[in-house]
Amino acid sequence: MKTSVRLSPYINPERYKLTLKPDLEGFTFEGDEIIVLNITKPTKEVTLHSKDLKIESAEYIHGDKTSWAGKIKYNPKEEKVTFTFSKNLPKGLGELKVVFQGILNDKMRGFYRSEYEVEGKKKIMATSQLESTDARRAFPSFDEPSKKAIFDVSIMAPPGTTAISNTIESVVKEHESGYMVYNFEPTPKMSTYLLAFIVGEFESIETKTKRGVKVRVFVTPGKLKQAEFALDVASKALDFFEEYFAIPYPLPVLDLIAIPDFSAGAMENWGAITYRETAILVDPDHTSSANKQWVALVIAHELAHQWFGNLVTMEWWTHLWLNEGFASYIEFLAIDHLFPEWDIWTQFVSSDHDSALELDGLQNTHPIEVEVHDPEEISEIFDAVSYSKGSAILRMLANYLGPNKFRDGLRSYLKKHQYSNASTNDLWDAFERVSGKEVKKVMANWTSKPGYPLVSVIQKKDNLILSQERFFSSPLSKKGSIDKTIWSIPFNVLTKAQRSYQQYLMDKKTFNLPLTVDGDWIKLNHDESSFIRVKYSEDLLTLLEKPVQKGELDPIDRLGIVRDAFDLSEAGELPADFALKMARSYKNEPDYVVWSLIASGLHKVRRLIEDDPTLNKHFDLYGQEIFKGIATKMGWEKKRGEKHTDSLLRSLVLSNLGDYGDEETIRRSQELFSDVLKNKSHLEPDLRGVVYSLVAKNGSEKEYDALLSLYKEEDLQEEKNRLSAALGLFKSKALLKKTLKFAFSKEVRPQDTFRIVHYVFVNPEGKDLAWEFVKENWPLILERFGQGGHLLPRFIQPAAVFVNLEKAKDIKTFFKKSPAPGAKMAINQVLEQIESNAAWLKRDKKNIEAFILAS
Ligand code: BES
Ligand code: ZN
Repeated sequence: MKTSVRLSPYINPERYKLTLKPDLEGFTFEGDEIIVLNITKPTKEVTLHSKDLKIESAEYIHGDKTSWAGKIKYNPKEEKVTFTFSKNLPKGLGELKVVFQGILNDKMRGFYRSEYEVEGKKKIMATSQLESTDARRAFPSFDEPSKKAIFDVSIMAPPGTTAISNTIESVVKEHESGYMVYNFEPTPKMSTYLLAFIVGEFESIETKTKRGVKVRVFVTPGKLKQAEFALDVASKALDFFEEYFAIPYPLPVLDLIAIPDFSAGAMENWGAITYRETAILVDPDHTSSANKQWVALVIAHELAHQWFGNLVTMEWWTHLWLNEGFASYIEFLAIDHLFPEWDIWTQFVSSDHDSALELDGLQNTHPIEVEVHDPEEISEIFDAVSYSKGSAILRMLANYLGPNKFRDGLRSYLKKHQYSNASTNDLWDAFERVSGKEVKKVMANWTSKPGYPLVSVIQKKDNLILSQERFFSSPLSKKGSIDKTIWSIPFNVLTKAQRSYQQYLMDKKTFNLPLTVDGDWIKLNHDESSFIRVKYSEDLLTLLEKPVQKGELDPIDRLGIVRDAFDLSEAGELPADFALKMARSYKNEPDYVVWSLIASGLHKVRRLIEDDPTLNKHFDLYGQEIFKGIATKMGWEKKRGEKHTDSLLRSLVLSNLGDYGDEETIRRSQELFSDVLKNKSHLEPDLRGVVYSLVAKNGSEKEYDALLSLYKEEDLQEEKNRLSAALGLFKSKALLKKTLKFAFSKEVRPQDTFRIVHYVFVNPEGKDLAWEFVKENWPLILERFGQGGHLLPRFIQPAAVFVNLEKAKDIKTFFKKSPAPGAKMAINQVLEQIESNAAWLKRDKKNIEAFILAS
């Protein structure tokens, strides 16, 4: 068992006066700080966090006495430094003064450098990414979320550059060195991981919210036009959140900054939110509907953090979900308000809700609240459990309490803990206060236990009998488990007879539903509002076929049924041909989200048999049959004024139909692509992903070179991503090898390397190559991404596509002898998934074969 790495509770920072001076040519920085400390127990030693910093000097000033730290001792393993003084530092307030130096690294963590071009000239900016535990790489600090303090930041910016930090600049003056000194207003009391320092050449646009908060978007020169959408969404979302939380945003300015090299998608630094370019820039002529929607969601997510995370912060990383689960829930609330026509809540069920069910169905998952100690463990829990399961159980709770009580609970929680820290229990307390319901009792097992329940339902005479047990996505995982958890499940039941739903709370192993069904259909977990799967008896499932086909059930209910059919098949609870048959009954389905889950269900089964050419060919025909109708209906042309989700649907079904080998679709893609090359037509952004992928899947060197040169000429990162994804989809092994090399070349920013490797992995012709490549180049991957950053697992996760046990063995052996910091859980998840795939194929191969050969 690891011991705690927490800092002393007797030494607390109250205020930092911090100055940073980056050297954009030498890739270094200098810093000095005065930290006002409150010491509650006399001590000779002060320990704080510091990583890769060289400390010049440290002194402590108390009253009129100054003492020098005679000894400065680094503890690189714990990322700490200890200053030892000759005499005890007394109780009370004093000032710790530290002078230090650091390196502007190229690892996208701490205070780092990023490259951009202005009029063809290469430039360097300095920028920061401090979550989770990298403030200690920028300045010696008490780098824990509950050690909140006020920060007075000054930045010395080289001539010609702009400096941005969390608050607004109060004074900008020229220093004798020619540098500009930016003094920023004091921050609110806040955690270290939320600070931001950015120095570079920027252009910006700005607006004001209804209440007068200044909102600005900063981009590197030449990209201002792509900033307009973000500015609009951000200012409207800020209005929305101020109203919803009933607490005004406390700063006079909110900045959004597009950073060319960025490890995550975006980061919620208080008042200075940083973004990867693809998560903020929208080019009206070149951005797809899907990407525009992504940008809006990311903006709303980071804005939600200004309250959830920044104003009220988790006590420790164990409660990370209070940040990430929350923001992942509330982003949908805001976007539903701003873009009601996007049907975003329905999309929640096919995205977050679904990915949480997937990950949390494994034995190698973790409870939402999980003990974590060191930076590697902390970085591992930024996953679908904290984000997506977190948001899904909040949606369940919101449904149980009703929207007003839910909102009031949040308001009460924020008010009570503002400028301070909180834990999961504090949140349940707030909901109990406003609702009078036993929230803690109902929610306890959802956050403290791994996994979620499978609810089975059978009909006995006039009664429905429900029972629950933990769901495992594979019988293998289930066999090894002795989990007897009973969840309190609030859930909705929709019946034909009533045409409305009824809410129940199932808090026992078995439960009699007091309902007469009388041969009519019944849909459990209406609206998929609970985080469960449902297994119907055969007769009850058969009854649901009609209401699905006639559209008597809503899209969310239709998707729940087909999603569970595929996943129950993987789990060994239903035969695979049952799910394949069911997919066929969805042929007239009109809705995007339902199709997206049918597509992913089919994909899972196809994956199992993709190495068998005969079966694969027959499966292709089945896939074409499934997608032909809807793809024909959608066509290649955008209809005037069509629904946003119809644009998404078109891309989805055309790409699936083409992927299953439909010749007409492939030919059409090739024609459109050759028009692009001849500069004959502007290709609609929503079709570009489809066209590039199908051209690549059916192309050779000529198409490869064409896509590659388009990539090289392109400025817009979103378009680069579409093009480079296609480079991973060719059939030729020689070309795929070239792609893998390319991913690590200077042409590709390190932030995007994993994406390209991912596409080679998911390509049936590429998966072996990709794995061999990752193995061979592991030292390089470690060097670039291996210091516990969260990109490392991305090179391992796609190996979950394998179906054969030999591969699992190989992966296991490899990681026994090779370090993979911050990727332990990911490796175990991949191994479990491969074993699950292999077992599924063994179990169902015969019936899949019989089904597709007969079709
Ligand atoms: N706080 C995170 C950024 C982050 C992620 C920091 C991992 C350190 C480690 C931010 O709020 C976030 O969640 N960003 C997401 C985008 C979001 C819309 C899901 C991301 O970066 O993917
Ligand atoms: Zn977040």
